[in-house]
Order: sequence, then structure tokens, then C-alpha cells
Amino acid sequence: MAKERLDKVLSHLGVGSRSEVRRMARAGRVRVDGQVVRDPSCKLDPERVRIEVDEAPLVYRRYFHLLLNKPAGCITSTREREGVPVTALLPPPWQRPDWMPVGRLDKDAEGLLLLTTHGELAHRLTHPRWKVSKRYYVELEAPATLEDVQAFASGRLLLDGKPLKPAELRLGPDPRRVELVLLEGRFHQVKRMFAARGNRVLYLRRISFGPLELPADLSPGMARALEPQELEALYRTVGLSCTG
Ligand code: URA
Repeated sequence: MAKERLDKVLSHLGVGSRSEVRRMARAGRVRVDGQVVRDPSCKLDPERVRIEVDEAPLVYRRYFHLLLNKPAGCITSTREREGVPVTALLPPPWQRPDWMPVGRLDKDAEGLLLLTTHGELAHRLTHPRWKVSKRYYVELEAPATLEDVQAFASGRLLLDGKPLKPAELRLGPDPRRVELVLLEGRFHQVKRMFAARGNRVLYLRRISFGPLELPADLSPGMARALEPQELEALYRTVGLSCTG
């Protein structure tokens, strides 16, 4: 990988802000391959050198990914002026400016939201070409019907004048509590699909995104890192090789 400034590498790894890590380097707290490096602008290849801060070795990672259970009331966007962003829920070690939420969830919706710093991964996961499936648990004002199942499966339902890809509506014992599987992610899609059928969504939770399932033990507002096998499956879904 190309060489990068020491202060950039350290702040990327979450050691501190750029100004904090510059102070740490100048104070002699940073070693590269065993040598104290005081110049924060020193260039190095972080995948080829051993970096220590206060004698603790750092493990280099190019990208970061988190699985969050978004609670109702906060917004998927990372821009504060539109409401409380989901990234504000993360504990200090996971605070960083480059999180990208993958696939929007409405303010009143809950459930699985992937956060990543890998732009190409985020792009592919949301691009219609890759047909990444998203499964939602939905509570409805009126019972869903077999006609809804057929209408959603037909691929003939229009939103904004354009046909939707066939979607799978799963009716359970209570037809007011259903699951819907989509292969695309249009604006307010679930709510607008049911509105097009004369119904109304009262509650919405995303329970899977591609190969990722919302963990039963992850409460709303909590996040966790992806397991290596989840990460590999996610990259494979969109034709990328897993880089960690
Ligand atoms: N469809 C919606 O209507 N809202 C969401 O948040 C996600 C899918």
C-alpha cells in the first residue's frame, strides 16, 4: 500500500485526533519498527511496519465495519442538523468521522444498519445491480392479504411510475404482522408499497441485510463489530474479496 503520514495512520486507527497524535509523537511515545519517531509527518507503509504507542503494538486495519441496531428516533444520515445521527450512539473508541451508513432507515424505523468506512463496499451493497436482499418485520394497520402477496410478487407494482422488482411478502398466523423481502431500496419503499395497497405501516424493523441477520441479543442503540465469517459473506455477496 502507498506510504502515508504517521499522524494520519494513527488517527485512522483511532489512537486520537490528528493534533493529539502529533503531540504523542513529539513526546516520544510512538515507535516504528522499534525506533522512536517524533516527526508526525514521517511517511510509512502501515501494512509493512510495526507501530507501537506507549509500547503497545497497534494492529493495522484499512477498513472498519459495525452492525448497529438502530433505535427509532435517530436518523441514518450522519449530518447533525437533520436530527440525532446514528453515529452519535457509538461509544468513544468507535467515534470516527468517516462512517458511511449502508441503506437508509427512516427516523421511526428500527433494526439492522451496517456502518462501514469502505466506500466501494457501501456503494455495491446499495446498488440495484447487486440485488442485495433486505428483510423487514412489519406491523400493519389492516391485515395483509393473499392479493398483496401476489401484487408484490408480480413485479408490476409501480412506484414513481417505475415497476418494482418482485418482492416476497410472508404472511404469518397474524396477517397484521408480516415479513417483506426486498431486492432494492427505494425511498420509504416498504411504507409506500403498503400505502399503494391501501394499508399503513405502524412499525418497521429491518431484520436482515444480505447475509447479515439482526442479532437477537443486540438491543436497540447497541452496535458490535462484524464476525470474520459475516464480513467474508458480506464481501462475497457483492463480488469483492474481504480485506478486513
Ligand atoms: N422502507 C421504508 O419505508 N422505510 C425504511 O426505513 C426502510 C424501508
